[in-house]
Amino acid sequence: MNNLISLREWDPCLISEVILLAKNIKENSQAYSQKMVGRSLLMIFEKPSLRTRLSFEAGMTQMGGHAIYYHVGSSPMGSGKESISDSIKVASRYVDIIMARLFNHKDLVEMANYSSVPVINALTDDSHPCQIMADLLTITEKKGNLKNLKLSYFGDGFNNVTHSLMIGGTKMGMDVFVSTPSDKKYLPREDVIKDCIKYSKLSGGSITITDNLEEAASDADIIYTDSWMSYHIPKQDEKKRIGDLMPFQVNQKLLSLANSNVIFMNCLPASRGYEQTSEVIDGNNSIVFDQAENRLHAQKAIMHKLLELK
Ligand code: CP
Ligand code: NVA
Repeated sequence: MNNLISLREWDPCLISEVILLAKNIKENSQAYSQKMVGRSLLMIFEKPSLRTRLSFEAGMTQMGGHAIYYHVGSSPMGSGKESISDSIKVASRYVDIIMARLFNHKDLVEMANYSSVPVINALTDDSHPCQIMADLLTITEKKGNLKNLKLSYFGDGFNNVTHSLMIGGTKMGMDVFVSTPSDKKYLPREDVIKDCIKYSKLSGGSITITDNLEEAASDADIIYTDSWMSYHIPKQDEKKRIGDLMPFQVNQKLLSLANSNVIFMNCLPASRGYEQTSEVIDGNNSIVFDQAENRLHAQKAIMHKLLELK
């Protein structure tokens, strides 16, 4: 079955092919306007969303198809009345493709195991591959290539977006730096680091985890950050996390260490004054809204590819 569960299972050729397709769809959207006629996308949500929900739904509409929003909280699956396996076996009889935004990554894997149609990870606590496909498209547009660019991430390292960025970046030959506190709760997962070392050997990229801000920021081509309070993090942890992560805030001083043409990225939603200052996110180096737009084009390409449309 064709799925996008994480970028681990996608080889660099497939990633490149889908980025290229996304570019083509973006430039020639009219040529794709009938590709999904008669097809339905089921969108299963356990967590909130602006970008993911709207871009998948609009993307499906733009290609002539239909998207169904389904909230787990008001479903038999959510109340425990119906198992994931039964729910997905039934859903697969109605729709052509499924995306799900869930807490537990294992639940997504279970959905994929029981689905007879492609399943897309629309974010779990583990990973966010759709975001990174859009990010790689955006970086390609802004920098012309991916290989040997220095991408430095600042903030929470034990994070779905960070993990997917590490995987996608090293697979594509980038030099990925994660600058995060040395406390275990903020460090990227060991198994992800190990895999990224393997990917780097094949691609010529590298992976560096450091609490040294200067090492990560100096000569960076891309500076990236994400929320310190991901959807799954309890409100009661907020004060402590702000204290721990404030030294890793992306501010003008940090940005000035990077290349003069550095681009600033944040998958959004953003909190000004926390993971970055207003000056940075609203400044000239910020490309966050182009990045958000590319969710639309990248996901149209992902669905197109998974459904093997011609
Ligand atoms: N970046 C992203 O996935 O945003 P949403 O949570 O709004 O979907
Ligand atoms: N790390 C964030 C990403 C939001 C798109 C979260 O999980 O909430």
